[in-house]
Amino acid sequence: MDVKRVSIRQAKKRIKNDPELSRMLVRSGWREIALDLDGDGMADVLFASDSVGRKIDTIAVDLDGSGEYNLYIHDYDGNGIPDTILMVDDEGERQILAFGSKVELGFLNLGVKIANLLMAEDFMNRELGISLADLAEYLKLNAAVMLQELEKRETAEGIDRVYYYLNDAKTYYLATIDGNKPRVRPFGTILLDEGKLYIQTGKVKDVSKQIGQNPNVEICACMNDGTWLRIEAELAEDDSHDVKVKMLDKMPSLKNRYSPDDGNMQMFYLKNATAVFSSFTAEPETITF
Ligand SMILES: Cc1cc2nc3c(=O)[nH]c(=O)nc-3n(C[C@H](O)[C@H](O)[C@H](O)COP(=O)(O)O)c2cc1C
Repeated sequence: MDVKRVSIRQAKKRIKNDPELSRMLVRSGWREIALDLDGDGMADVLFASDSVGRKIDTIAVDLDGSGEYNLYIHDYDGNGIPDTILMVDDEGERQILAFGSKVELGFLNLGVKIANLLMAEDFMNRELGISLADLAEYLKLNAAVMLQELEKRETAEGIDRVYYYLNDAKTYYLATIDGNKPRVRPFGTILLDEGKLYIQTGKVKDVSKQIGQNPNVEICACMNDGTWLRIEAELAEDDSHDVKVKMLDKMPSLKNRYSPDDGNMQMFYLKNATAVFSSFTAEPETITF
């Protein structure tokens, strides 16, 4: 995609001087040019400029000939390498396939889905006034790390998948039994260490006492993509110094209230667990660990 030095004005000039291209021209506006490559009367490709009408920064392509653009290639910084490649599928769901100027097109093969980032973009625009260009800049800076993280999530199975879900949900709800009454409260601590999934609490809390009386718990978490996770498990205490340090390192804000030797910090791992991933659109999936 060598659009580095091409402006909308230059492109229009070229189209005007080229009978073949001008035959394909469907629409030409201040900031966009649409061409009908296959002559079916519908535009197959659209070139759009940045907000000041200078260089081309977006190419939209109608891959399936439906008249809807379903592939968008953005080059925000105009260096000729796409910063974002965006697919829109049949259901109108948007997926970024690759981003970051340093990203080689080979990354396309990863097919990484980060629809959530697009929702984040809407949110950032609305609530914080952060523009798409700012977001693109952020994505570029973080592309490599984020792609690695996303790839891990895409391929995670078993307990790893459960860990990523709870970690990314940030808050989950832990239910315990208090005599013959249920008790539930928000929790956020989560650590995967040597194949065990840990949560953390303080011995002074009622929740700790309830677990001491009855280690059977249930955990529930959900995400705003219409999925939820429910885990039935027993909690087993692990008093090792090492695992407490790892939890504090992973969640440094806990250091204000806990330390490994304070006699209060308490670590539990889940055992005999049955985790069920559910959604409104797919069959539930069960993982045991
Ligand atoms: C988002 C969020 C995450 C929390 N994470 C934890 C946690 O991981 N461990 C913990 O002991 N308390 C956590 N808390 C605080 C507990 O929910 C709170 O102390 C609760 O009252 C404990 O239950 P209990 O009153 O039955 O002992 C969290 C609170 C919030 C709002």
